[in-house]
Amino acid sequence: MRIVRSIPELRVALKAVRESGQSIGLVPTMGFLHEGHASLIRQSTARCDTTVVSVFVNPSQFCPGEDLDRYPRDLERDQNLCLKLGVAILFMPEAAEIYPTGFTTSIEVGPMGDALCGHYRPGHFRGVATVVTKLFNLVQPDLAFFGQKDLQQTSIIRRVVKDLNLPVDILVAPTVREPDGLALSSRNAYLDPKARQTALGISRGLGKAERRFQEGERDAASLAATVRGELLDMDEIQYCEAVDPVTMDILAGTITRPAALCVAVVLGGTRLIDNVLLSPSGVVTQFISHLESKDS
Ligand code: PAJ
Repeated sequence: MRIVRSIPELRVALKAVRESGQSIGLVPTMGFLHEGHASLIRQSTARCDTTVVSVFVNPSQFCPGEDLDRYPRDLERDQNLCLKLGVAILFMPEAAEIYPTGFTTSIEVGPMGDALCGHYRPGHFRGVATVVTKLFNLVQPDLAFFGQKDLQQTSIIRRVVKDLNLPVDILVAPTVREPDGLALSSRNAYLDPKARQTALGISRGLGKAERRFQEGERDAASLAATVRGELLDMDEIQYCEAVDPVTMDILAGTITRPAALCVAVVLGGTRLIDNVLLSPSGVVTQFISHLESKDS
């Protein structure tokens, strides 16, 4: 595995890969890797000849007062995990490499970036879209892998790829959870034992609503209310809605097309998000299916 910190080094390493005709998979991350990230890396190594993982805590996607300075980091552990998983190139740039003095350009994502998480994190998705577009330009991957856990992020990245004709296919892998249901997140490290226990209401509520959906309940408000019923102990519910997973528009009335139930809460100062997909036909085509990912 090559550990690369500069853009020129990255270009040299990738030139050789491209010239030998190998396919390239990219897994962008902010590090402090866990089994959710590992599942994306496995998806990439299974499909692509060369896997590039980026570890970069992207300052431009943090709002003033957010956790940029205390975002958990463990570069040595990240390196060891990537090595074990067969990553070919680990790209770990400093902020000045990605945002040199004088940097001003950014990707404006439009109204989709102002909804849901974007409402509570103004500018967040501009930062995500900008850094991900830069990574796509630097690595020029055939495939790029993202987690369903950050559903709005995946929808926005698909939109950017489509709108700007970026030559990359986006694959979205299912959310990896702790045995008790909590979605893995680098930010779970902030939770004290009591908050960690309370946080289980999120996956419990989503699971209950998912079961009601499977049993035939199709009313968007009623399904969202089922989730809310398990969120009573949270410090704040930022949103809990049924949405269209492509546009992120909030759905009302009867669900007839693929939908997602999406939640954001604050608990003990930590912001947690989670979601489940609801599909009347059982398949949501733009996602790597849960069955497939269990087999691979
Ligand atoms: P980060 O939070 O490190 O997540 C990197 C990737 O891992 C994202 O695609 C995210 O959706 C996925 N992921 C996180 N938790 C997961 C889980 N429990 N199961 C499956 N996948 C999971 O998301 C970012 O970083 C950044 O915004 C980034 C895209 C790297 C841009 O800076």
